[in-house]
Amino acid sequence: MKNRKSINFAAILATVLIAVSCQTSVNNTNQTAVNNSPQQKTSDNIPDRKWWKEAVVYQIYPRSFKDSNGDGVGDLKGITSKLDYIKSLGVDVIWLNPIFASPNDDNGYDISDYQEIMKDFGTMEDFDELLKGMHERKLKVVLDLVANHSSDEHRWFQESRKSRDNPYRNYYHWWDEEKGKPNKRVSFFDVNGDAWKYDEQTRSYYLHYFSQKQPDLNWENPQVREEMYKIMRFWFDKGVDGFRMDVIPFISKDTTFPPIPAEFKDDWGAFYSHGPHRHEYLQEMNREALSKYDVMSVGEAGVPSEEALDYVDPARKELNMFYHFEGVGLGYMPNSKKIIDPNGWSLIDFKNVYSKWDSVFAEKGWGTIYLGNHDQPRMVTRWGNDSPEFRELSSKMLSTFLLTMRSTPYYYFGDELGMNNIKFDKIEDYKDIESINWYKNIKESGGNLEEFMASQKIAARDNGRTPFQWDSTTNAGFTTGNPWLKVNPNYQTVNVAAQEKDENSVLNYFRKTAKFRKENPVLIYGTYTLLDKENPNVYAFTRELNGQKILVLLNFKAQEASVNTGFDLSKAKVLLGNYAVPSIGERLKPYEVVILEL
Ligand code: GLC
Repeated sequence: MKNRKSINFAAILATVLIAVSCQTSVNNTNQTAVNNSPQQKTSDNIPDRKWWKEAVVYQIYPRSFKDSNGDGVGDLKGITSKLDYIKSLGVDVIWLNPIFASPNDDNGYDISDYQEIMKDFGTMEDFDELLKGMHERKLKVVLDLVANHSSDEHRWFQESRKSRDNPYRNYYHWWDEEKGKPNKRVSFFDVNGDAWKYDEQTRSYYLHYFSQKQPDLNWENPQVREEMYKIMRFWFDKGVDGFRMDVIPFISKDTTFPPIPAEFKDDWGAFYSHGPHRHEYLQEMNREALSKYDVMSVGEAGVPSEEALDYVDPARKELNMFYHFEGVGLGYMPNSKKIIDPNGWSLIDFKNVYSKWDSVFAEKGWGTIYLGNHDQPRMVTRWGNDSPEFRELSSKMLSTFLLTMRSTPYYYFGDELGMNNIKFDKIEDYKDIESINWYKNIKESGGNLEEFMASQKIAARDNGRTPFQWDSTTNAGFTTGNPWLKVNPNYQTVNVAAQEKDENSVLNYFRKTAKFRKENPVLIYGTYTLLDKENPNVYAFTRELNGQKILVLLNFKAQEASVNTGFDLSKAKVLLGNYAVPSIGERLKPYEVVILEL
């Protein structure tokens, strides 16, 4: 106790001295320079520090990052050639979407061999070289484990479907025809929505929550679980630093397949997330694989906030972190994942969701935060403003939000450039099975296709999957061939090469803000308090740690807006902002962000 007090006192003294010697520094071009003096005082007295809590994760969709061989598809060698760029961002962990052998029905989320590299992406040697290059640069690598289902082209499934007594039969969920049609399960990607597919060969149905080519593995079978742990250990032994786990709460199923209880009628995902043995299996996975290495684990799939802690409470020994879908789910029409109203969310709802999720991990456990990924549209289009006037400012504002919350930020490649939705007009331009099959489904059921296509311009996953924009040469420098998905035509101006030259670019702002987070543990570990809760325009919150208090003000609107923080801001010190002359006071300019020390 005594020791603790004296450390704090010394730290406060140090800060006073630093504050006296550092004026608020503002440059006269476009954005506020970083004044990150407060760092020294908060790095002590932090319990339970972990590298994965302090990391900024950068997600790469390998298909779209950099093509090294001109076949129009990004690959591992392409990523290796850009490691210095990745390092220059100031991120720590790279999460790669699935890179395993796959026929690509769902771009790698249908794995046909968990210990081979997808041909489009290269070879195992390419992977080893990439891993080496990353580790040499002190970057960690997280792979994407798709454990709930495999591809129907996986050897296990090929065997399983051969006969009812095949040794692999029980690796999947089969329902023999004589038992009658199984109770309904809805498939997310199927044209007719049916998750049971009849297979002639053995006169049985198999289960597929996603496409027909993604049969669900039977985790109730201990052999399947052991196979998965073996696969995990294989990659960990190679040096991989963790796994992002696709739809992980879906793994356990009641194999009597009872009717869906009424409470889950309109929310299949929530029902699928409530399998009877999910926690047992995650604890087993932890014992058999995760706990043997210093690795990170993050689970994907929507679970309600009241249940989230059960997955990440360290005492339960399951996973480190979990995503939630509540934030990115705002704005969809009731009972529809397909139709979105771009203005159908309010900042007050947004603040409530993120504040609620912060409170889940206030005492123990740890959260994640993201606004974009390969299943989401571009963050600036969805949550900011992609008009020429505000694309840069609002991108910077959103990046600041992600980098100042108490959770590990998962930052999606391309958002550091302010890349925005491509907004295809024609269904033929889409390559994603989700958009294509939903289109067919709506067409066949006589639904409103115009409404669907308009909605896809905002929400379709392909918006977030267009090739990365390196420079203004053909195909944005992504490929010398034909890109697998169209390049956003704005690459002529929105690209790395152009932004490297501009010290006020979105790219350089991201670098600066990521560094700022690193240097200020208060932004990682400090407590979070929402201010001015009912303010419809401004998101204001404080972060506090060991006597240091930081105020973050984010104007989410294209107009000037006021905020009432209850503090006297005239004496506050500006640490970072996205305008040349930051506002100090209660009024903020459009999409302005200001970080102040109180
Ligand atoms: C997850 C993935 C998504 C994929 C689905 C099926 O939600 O993020 O891209 O389509 O699972 O594997």
